[in-house]
Amino acid sequence: MDCFDGIKNLDNNSVALVITSPPYVEQRKKYYNSIPEIDYPMWTVSWMRLLKNKLKENASVCINIRPHIKNGQISNYVAKTVDVLREDGWIECEELIWYKPDSPPMGSIKRPRRAWESIKWFSLTNKPFCNPKANGSISNRIGFEQSKFEESNNGYVHRGQNQAKSGIARCTDVIVCGTSKVEKGYNHPAMFPPEVPEYLIKMLSKEEDLILDPFIGSGTTGRVAEKLNRKWIGFEINEEYMIKD
Ligand SMILES: C[S@@+](CC[C@H](N)C(=O)[O-])C[C@H]1O[C@@H](n2cnc3c(N)ncnc32)[C@H](O)[C@@H]1O
Repeated sequence: MDCFDGIKNLDNNSVALVITSPPYVEQRKKYYNSIPEIDYPMWTVSWMRLLKNKLKENASVCINIRPHIKNGQISNYVAKTVDVLREDGWIECEELIWYKPDSPPMGSIKRPRRAWESIKWFSLTNKPFCNPKANGSISNRIGFEQSKFEESNNGYVHRGQNQAKSGIARCTDVIVCGTSKVEKGYNHPAMFPPEVPEYLIKMLSKEEDLILDPFIGSGTTGRVAEKLNRKWIGFEINEEYMIKD
């Protein structure tokens, strides 16, 4: 169903995390409805507004989005969208990068190959739930501080660092995953690979939490949420993409 109807039916204060890749501006028009550039910021504000009382207090919303190049210039609708969301009370917590090492050689040959997309992370609080070690890796530099410097007659000299320990380090704000990793066998032209929602779900929610994807497409977010013992709800307006058992 249309998420504008679906979100209204959710219980208040129920959703711990929203992960979504909404339709972009005037791309993939032949596959599903797309929003004109001029309307995009307020269209986003309107579905995000519906979410406000459905979210738990420390919930996050992650939006995967990428502006296109138009007449040799980056279209500014994403920047405008972020601005109006901030004006509407959303806190822009961070921008994560989804780096696609295997991105196809498309676009202008006069430019470097674009190999990343943004994931805009919003919340209604400046202290959303976040466990950055959930995706962390073993490191022997835990507690490492920047080199300290002190003044001497010869200028600044290196004073060393504190005692680093071993342990699990926080993850970075870059998710590395090739587009070739998208799940096979689903009828959808714009899926993200499961590694993208997996990273976000592990970091921004707990087991049993409810995860929502208002533009769920083939259902990638739902399949990953289930694997990670989270509950999930997704909306998809096109019946042809609806998840079949
Ligand atoms: C970029 S795709 C999402 C793909 C998804 N992340 C996946 O991995 O399969 C966006 C989806 O939003 C759907 N959509 C567009 N407008 C919608 C609306 N108002 N309510 C629900 N779904 C909508 C489109 O049909 C499309 O399938």
